[in-house]
Amino acid sequence: MTTILVTGGTGTLGRHVTERLRAGGHEVRVLSRHSQPYAVDLREGGSALDAAVTGVDTIVHCATTPRGDEQAARNLIAAARRAGVTHFVYISIVGVDRVPFPYYKVKLAVERLVEESGLGWTILRTTQFHDLLVKMFQGVSKPPVMLLPARVKDQPIEVTEVAERLAELAQGAPAGRVDDMGGPEVRTFESLARSYLRATGRRRPVVKVPLGGAAYRAFRAGGHLAPEHAVGKGTFEDFLAARAGKGGGRAG
Ligand SMILES: NC(=O)c1ccc[n+]([C@@H]2O[C@H](COP(=O)([O-])OP(=O)(O)OC[C@H]3O[C@@H](n4cnc5c(N)ncnc54)[C@H](OP(=O)(O)O)[C@@H]3O)[C@@H](O)[C@H]2O)c1
Repeated sequence: MTTILVTGGTGTLGRHVTERLRAGGHEVRVLSRHSQPYAVDLREGGSALDAAVTGVDTIVHCATTPRGDEQAARNLIAAARRAGVTHFVYISIVGVDRVPFPYYKVKLAVERLVEESGLGWTILRTTQFHDLLVKMFQGVSKPPVMLLPARVKDQPIEVTEVAERLAELAQGAPAGRVDDMGGPEVRTFESLARSYLRATGRRRPVVKVPLGGAAYRAFRAGGHLAPEHAVGKGTFEDFLAARAGKGGGRAG
């Protein structure tokens, strides 16, 4: 049995990782700003972070925050080094080195920190979780017309499959950058949005808007896709159907 700290272990991905590691018989600590007894703001670090990391063999870093992920990673890595952690596992995003989107630039910077940390490390990059697309479509379907970026595709993946892989990696030896993981289908945003509208019983005219800028060009070129690693099984429709079964369907 090893002691594993899952940062962001209450989040969309982290809670599934935590569940799987606990099922594997490990002692799992969950760290987030609100989860006692390891309620820590990683951007601040301090003695509470040191206490959370003391005695830990492996860290799975799933926490993320709109601003401050780089400082958070610096604090976490420094604490991990002090505590003699042997394996640092980081979840990243396919294309962080190809798409100059601000959040992706931060993810890439954190990858570099992990690689240069002196700790044993593993980095897994995946495509977008189905949950994220639903959140996005919820937002853009509020106005009477649904505006979507023109000529952009996506390859969403089921988060429980990512959690399974991440838990597997966390239980193994440091592996460096492992193969990217993408969802089963590369689809246009429009086709994914129409599936969402159908599943939630909403009617919206869809208007595709060409956007400017380097990040948009890189998304349009498919920099965030991994068609050669379409290893995911669950489709967006499977996800929407399961969600509807849990009461998150119509008007959801
Ligand atoms: N979503 C995607 O499509 C996708 C795709 C590929 C990779 N990823 C990566 O997967 C990871 C997890 O994403 P997610 O969608 O599961 O995130 P999420 O649902 O937003 O969860 C974020 C977690 O981080 C914790 N957290 C936030 N700020 C914190 C802070 N300052 N200090 C400590 N904990 C903090 C949150 O809990 P508290 O609020 O209690 O702090 C929560 O547990 C991220 O690194 C993300 O980049 C996501």
